Amino acid sequence: MNQKVTIIGTGRMGSALAAALFNKGFATTVWNRTASKTERLSRLGLRVAASVLEAVNEADVVIVNINNYDSTVELLRRPDIESALHGKILVQLTSGTPDEAREMESWARQCGIRYLDGAIWSAPMMIGTPQCMLLYSGSEELFDRLKPVLIAFGENTRFLGNEIGQASALDVAVLAGVVMNALFGFFQGYLVCEGENVPVETYLQFVKNVLPRMEAIITRYYGKLQSKDYTADQSSLEGWSVGPKMLIGWGRNHGADHCIADAQLSLFEKAIKAGKGQSDFAYLCEVLRKGQTNVHSAPFNSLSLSRNCIALSLVHVGAIFARAIQ
Ligand SMILES: NC(=O)c1ccc[n+]([C@@H]2O[C@H](COP(=O)([O-])OP(=O)(O)OC[C@H]3O[C@@H](n4cnc5c(N)ncnc54)[C@H](OP(=O)(O)O)[C@@H]3O)[C@@H](O)[C@H]2O)c1
Repeated sequence: MNQKVTIIGTGRMGSALAAALFNKGFATTVWNRTASKTERLSRLGLRVAASVLEAVNEADVVIVNINNYDSTVELLRRPDIESALHGKILVQLTSGTPDEAREMESWARQCGIRYLDGAIWSAPMMIGTPQCMLLYSGSEELFDRLKPVLIAFGENTRFLGNEIGQASALDVAVLAGVVMNALFGFFQGYLVCEGENVPVETYLQFVKNVLPRMEAIITRYYGKLQSKDYTADQSSLEGWSVGPKMLIGWGRNHGADHCIADAQLSLFEKAIKAGKGQSDFAYLCEVLRKGQTNVHSAPFNSLSLSRNCIALSLVHVGAIFARAIQ
């Protein structure tokens, strides 16, 4: 409990993390590139460091929460900071990819820094509440040792495993993949209803009615992916391709952006061209997998990954919404 903690980054999330630590009685220091964003925390009683070096020197545990891993590398990969961090614990709570987590762990090991990687599954207003959820991966012994600090952010703190990229992997998969793309689907449907004078309250009600069915639908597709049995016993992939075509048609006629549906349709077309038009919709996962193999050697591009995810989950959500509205 007497560990001294520094939070690097006091944006929306970093400020909430710092305040939660301070409220739980930890001696908390903050540093932010734009000093004015630390003023509110300073008024609360948190210590504000004038430099990253000073912030690191103040603490046993350094938690980073800034815009991305590249900025983290810029801040920390300097000889003075590396030697200040030597023997200390570094926790990265900035959103990033599993590859970035692995790179950071490897650098930390070379510098004699103990490293834990995490992903935040909550909005700033939930930090410090029992509902707040954070995922961690890395050394379990380190996680256990740090638990009193980490649960200051929320009791719902989960350790995933020793492979450092696992927290980021689930972040990419569930938040950037499923949740974000479901929201894109929701926005598209909203525009259609608004444009067609369907009361948006009615739309919301239909969406809510559909959501509980999503669990069964996803479970069914999970089974298909597991078995790799892509026999279409209910409807064919070609049949499903009508979904993006409808969205594209509607977007064209009403001046709405249809780039998401275009990306979906191109995946369908790839599958149909490969002779899989009569396969199950789940076969599109294989199309996505092959696309990823092609870009494997290219540097990571979060946009291309998002596009793949968008295509997958929007087809589910968009088509289901469209049916529910009919
Ligand atoms: N907000 C959420 O709901 C939420 C939820 C889960 C995870 N996260 C993750 O938490 C992290 C922070 O998000 P946020 O919502 O707090 O964003 P934010 O309010 O925009 O704050 C961004 C922070 O990054 C700092 N920053 C940006 N570029 C920098 C650079 N080159 N060098 C040093 N610092 C730099 C900013 O400093 P300045 O003030 O100087 O610009 C600021 O402290 C992100 O990785 C985000 O994905 C956020």
